[in-house]
Amino acid sequence: MDYSYQDALAFYGIGGAHPGGLTLTKQILKNEKLNEATKILDAGCGTGQTSAFLAKTYKCDVTAVDSHPIMIQKAKERFNYSNLEVKVIESSVESLPFKDESFDYIISESVVTFTNIKKTLPEYFRVLKNNGILISTDMTAEKSFKEEDLLKIKEVYSISNVLTEEQWLTAFQTAGFRKANVILMDTLYSHLLKETDHPEFKMSSYINPKLTEILFKHQQITNSFSKKIGYRTFKSIK
Ligand SMILES: C[S@@+](CC[C@H](N)C(=O)[O-])C[C@H]1O[C@@H](n2cnc3c(N)ncnc32)[C@H](O)[C@@H]1O
Repeated sequence: MDYSYQDALAFYGIGGAHPGGLTLTKQILKNEKLNEATKILDAGCGTGQTSAFLAKTYKCDVTAVDSHPIMIQKAKERFNYSNLEVKVIESSVESLPFKDESFDYIISESVVTFTNIKKTLPEYFRVLKNNGILISTDMTAEKSFKEEDLLKIKEVYSISNVLTEEQWLTAFQTAGFRKANVILMDTLYSHLLKETDHPEFKMSSYINPKLTEILFKHQQITNSFSKKIGYRTFKSIK
């Protein structure tokens, strides 16, 4: 069986699988107006760390979506264990099972990078209410890559490209968002120098060695291209 980077994250049960982890999420969310009336979609929720935080801290009406069945299972276990009412749906973000204008907010942390952007961003736009807000943290190219390096990155993450900040901003606008801004930015290099959260692990009972190899390759990429790969958190308004 061929395993992907997403499978490795799922079997290891890595929570907060985005740069900065929950610390970065909290930093971003504290500037937003969130309360019991807020309908928020955690798109590509992984093991549900951010959804749980939103439900506990802000009492939001949270829906968590992920396409990976193991992530969905681990997210459900987290919500059941903490007795949190989060709706959990297994679905691709490229085709969301919601009516138009269903959500006030979408949070999407390290997800769009791994999907078909041309399908995902219009879906986010569709299911947001007018004036709804998308907060999306995504991988960026800080400098150009040698062709063979870019190929390696694409292969390890099964992605079609690494966009620059400008290309991301254009993609949000093309999807229809009337405003798109960068609210946080960093390179992996300066990010690694900061002491941020260590990721959470909720490991499956059996881990195929191929999955460990994929995480090892991910670590190699992080180390080798830490000044060329970065991330941005974008805030886009419908
Ligand atoms: C890097 S992880 C981030 C998970 C979570 N947002 C977090 O920060 O911990 C990417 C997540 O996106 C999910 N994902 C990838 N492609 C997806 C798609 N097309 N639809 C829904 N989820 C997807 C993966 O299963 C994985 O849980």
